[in-house]
Amino acid sequence: MADVNLFTPGRIDGFDTKNRLIMAPMTRSRALAGGVPSDLAIEYYTQRASAGLIITEGTAPCADGLGYARTPAIESPAQVAAWKKITDGVHGKGGRIFCQFMHVGRIGHSANRYTKTQLVSPSSVKAAGQMWTDSMQMQDFDAPRELALHEIPGVVDEYAKATKNAMAAGFDGVELHSASGYLPMQFLSTNTNLRTDTYGGHVNNRIRFAVEVLEAMTKAAGSAEKVGIKISPAMPFNDISDANPVETYTTLVKAIGSMGLAYLHVLQSAPEPSYFKMLRPLFKGPFAAGGGFNKDSGNAMLASGGADFIVYGKLFTSNPDLPARFQKNAELAAFDPNTFYSPGAEGYTTFKSL
Ligand SMILES: Cc1cc2nc3c(=O)[nH]c(=O)nc-3n(C[C@H](O)[C@H](O)[C@H](O)COP(=O)(O)O)c2cc1C
Repeated sequence: MADVNLFTPGRIDGFDTKNRLIMAPMTRSRALAGGVPSDLAIEYYTQRASAGLIITEGTAPCADGLGYARTPAIESPAQVAAWKKITDGVHGKGGRIFCQFMHVGRIGHSANRYTKTQLVSPSSVKAAGQMWTDSMQMQDFDAPRELALHEIPGVVDEYAKATKNAMAAGFDGVELHSASGYLPMQFLSTNTNLRTDTYGGHVNNRIRFAVEVLEAMTKAAGSAEKVGIKISPAMPFNDISDANPVETYTTLVKAIGSMGLAYLHVLQSAPEPSYFKMLRPLFKGPFAAGGGFNKDSGNAMLASGGADFIVYGKLFTSNPDLPARFQKNAELAAFDPNTFYSPGAEGYTTFKSL
């Protein structure tokens, strides 16, 4: 493995990747009302087509799954048509793009949603904290209601429908967002899952939702090779915590390790314990590592065999041609947190390639 670096072509099952850089899923809050991606997103993603693989911003698989201001969904014909223009743009530049399905579960506010339904979660445990709304600035998270047992197959099916929509929109694959305190992680974690039925309690029950969703997405995509998953073990973001993350995530990854998935994407948010080291041997397939990598640490990770792909987030916001800049040892543009979620082109499509 010693000769593998960021510029070695890779393989994400159905296709060869130009390099080993994956653009991380990043919410950028430029979508139009009703969860429709704006035309600005065509330029934004197309500018970044030199990544080995682009993973889109978190995209709601269904109206219930949308919680943030100006974020997109992929359930309606208008949303699918808008995404098709984006995938066409990326493919036109020889890029590849997966759609990340982000169902927020309990992390949302009614002012950001186009449905009037209440937030849903494995249990009715309100998240501590606040989020941005355009009409009322910062607001406490809404309280969620507990999903009834008989409703869960319907939620799983919404991911399957979204997968079919993503395929119709020309995506190369789909990623289940099971990280950062959103719905699948709410099922995995002991502070948000207080259920006593087959979806709660024992770890084998808490992983059930994520496994069933991956199976449904695989069936809808026609192949597991088109389905990836992102996890962020022990990450406290969005008021989430688990009594035993080592047990939870080793159990989950063992359960999905032989499904033939496109990849396992792990966001490591603290130095120790290394979930990269712990989980890589349990997963038979491409392993993507993310969280604070630069060029040197990415190359070192690949050379050591610790991962097959490196996922870069913030650096891709301000360096659309990040692979070329790394390869040429060119200067990197500093990212600008002030424009991560602001409306309009500024800080979104205004960072140019060299
Ligand atoms: C502006 C911004 C938005 C993000 N939105 C998402 C998201 O929608 N889905 C997701 O899985 N992670 C999201 N993340 C996390 C990134 O995917 C990535 O895991 C994280 O930024 C760590 O990588 P980095 O240190 O290379 O930026 C976001 C990060 C940033 C900076």
